[in-house]
Amino acid sequence: MTQFGCKDTKKFIPLRPNSKRKIMSCQLLQGKKGVIFGALNEASIAWKVAEKAVEAGAQITLSNTPMALRMGEVNALGEKLNAKIIPADATSIEDLANVFKESTEILGGQIDFVLHSIGMSPNVRKKRTYDDLDYTMLSQTLDISAVSFHKMIQQARKLDAISEGGSILALSYVAAQRTFYGYNDMADAKALLESIARSFGYIYGREKGVRVNTISQSPTMTTAGSGVKGMDQLFDFANKMSPLGNASADECADYCIVMFSDLTKKVTMQNLFHDGGFSSMGMSLRAMNQYSKSLDEFKDETGKIIYG
Ligand SMILES: NC(=O)c1ccc[n+]([C@@H]2O[C@H](COP(=O)([O-])OP(=O)(O)OC[C@H]3O[C@@H](n4cnc5c(N)ncnc54)[C@H](O)[C@@H]3O)[C@@H](O)[C@H]2O)c1
Repeated sequence: MTQFGCKDTKKFIPLRPNSKRKIMSCQLLQGKKGVIFGALNEASIAWKVAEKAVEAGAQITLSNTPMALRMGEVNALGEKLNAKIIPADATSIEDLANVFKESTEILGGQIDFVLHSIGMSPNVRKKRTYDDLDYTMLSQTLDISAVSFHKMIQQARKLDAISEGGSILALSYVAAQRTFYGYNDMADAKALLESIARSFGYIYGREKGVRVNTISQSPTMTTAGSGVKGMDQLFDFANKMSPLGNASADECADYCIVMFSDLTKKVTMQNLFHDGGFSSMGMSLRAMNQYSKSLDEFKDETGKIIYG
């Protein structure tokens, strides 16, 4: 049998390819300290990352907005993982500085990894279309979903809160590169997010070997995901187009753990697609079969063609 497993302290556990056995027994993050922003409920990508990080041997703190904490499920996660929860609005540099100060105190030293798993667009929420954006709301979208990543890294760096060779990750979406109907101003936020990863990745890498990357994830059924217009169709389309199918939140969390680990020490300033191959596809047979059923123009109730 292939030696496909990992060292579990003394004994090497052989795993068959495609084994259902949990890979995280590898303890890839043994002794590491992390801060995870954005776990809201069990569906959240950050929730899965938090669980897997602890399973892989890390100690963590969790952060989300006071409102998200009041809404409620994060406390249960904190208890389960023995992780302190530090409230913060990610647009507030004071709140962010406090998260890093408290986290280094609680965890007893510098932080080895940070996850930014935060996104929100008031324009999407209020159903303002891209050709009718409210600009105050656009500023909020960019601040919450992208500039907060800059604020986070800037505060952590000023406090020297990240250890040498640490790993900082944010979650992105392919709408940063290509246009997806309905993704709205979040596309602009994701483009900015990815750019911040490159710009800060240069500074922090040169200075302290800290890696800064984004993972561009498949459509995923979470609270933020279901706010995207036509999410069900988008999810199905991406699934039919991707040779490996859509990546789940669980699988995304696995990728995050590898990116936090010492196995990816020289990966930085990248936007890493974690999408079952979607971003390299043009047309798949499954998608073609689906769309050959009707090539009619899409019309509204008055018969007007909509170029959506
Ligand atoms: N779900 C998808 O289809 C998908 C695909 C690609 C990328 N992503 C990205 O993954 C990340 C996590 O989203 P998710 O899908 O797990 O949904 P989610 O709704 O579970 O997580 C979004 C989080 O952002 C937090 N948040 C919102 N405003 C905030 C603020 N001002 N300060 C701090 N936190 C704030 C929310 O409380 C919530 O915990 C987001 O960046 C999202 O854009 C999601």
